[in-house]
Amino acid sequence: MTSLLNKELAINLKGRDFIELADYTPEEVRYLIDLAIELKTKQKAGEIFHPLKGKTLGMIFEKSSTRTRVSFEVGMYQLGGHALFLSGNDLQIGRGETISDTAQVLSRYLDGIMIRTFAHRTIIELARGATVPVINGLTDLSHPCQVLADYQTVLEHKGRLEGLKIAYIGDGNNMVHSLMMGAAKLGMHMSVATPEGYEPDEETVRQTKENASETGSRIHVCYDPKEAIADADIVYTDVWASMGFEAEQKEREIAFANYQVNEELVKYAKSDYLFLHCLPAHRGEEVSEGVIDGKHSIIFDQAENRLHAQKAIMAAIM
Ligand code: CP
Ligand code: NVA
Repeated sequence: MTSLLNKELAINLKGRDFIELADYTPEEVRYLIDLAIELKTKQKAGEIFHPLKGKTLGMIFEKSSTRTRVSFEVGMYQLGGHALFLSGNDLQIGRGETISDTAQVLSRYLDGIMIRTFAHRTIIELARGATVPVINGLTDLSHPCQVLADYQTVLEHKGRLEGLKIAYIGDGNNMVHSLMMGAAKLGMHMSVATPEGYEPDEETVRQTKENASETGSRIHVCYDPKEAIADADIVYTDVWASMGFEAEQKEREIAFANYQVNEELVKYAKSDYLFLHCLPAHRGEEVSEGVIDGKHSIIFDQAENRLHAQKAIMAAIM
């Protein structure tokens, strides 16, 4: 079978960082999704595919993870390479070694670095210092690997992306930032509803709208969940208190009380809507059990696709 990684079909992304979807053209974003689907097909057919034989990915985690850690490690193994788990607390970075020195040293051993961290500037500094590709495994600002998997899942279920409407109800966090940028790149429409005081980052919204104008995508931000969810093809939510914001849990429960995605709210979406959630989820908070465990929910296909989407990223850039 001809592969999207073969010379005639490939888009050359070798050596690039994967930090923001904003850094990729619409064609490149779509290419990575199509490549993910191809690699998934190969995997399911039992085909051995080892383009990263002999290569090592370092994975720095400064926050917890189930999906990201396991899918990157398994993905690297399936591509013929090796992955190394590096806890932020155990690295010298935790004792004050600079990010720049860490980046330069790790680049002498590794062929790629994935990092999950708090401040987005940490990954920017790491990428500046590193001479190998750096992958964003989540920061306080964005989670682009998740979004590639999310839109791959939607494409598999709906057969198309362009023109679909996604509604996001909840916190204006890392997930919504990357979902908006992904929608803008893929020609999808997106409506976001958050409580006042929890809006998405203004600069990200501005940048997203600029990108949206190139693909005919429409991005809308408001405070009314019913307005946002009206006629949506995809309904998405995420936790009310992200990692690093646990101390605000109680006040957030009050602020977000009217923003739960439940049976009442989804009546306003299209009758064949899909429900997505990046996970981990809190049933009874941001989403009711009936919705997340109901027939519209595709959360486990979505979680599985983290593996395939990240294999596509690693195969393309490493
Ligand atoms: N969705 C996601 O990134 O999950 P983890 O926090 O478990 O990696
Ligand atoms: N917004 C969540 C996403 C977890 C995958 C967080 O940052 O905790």
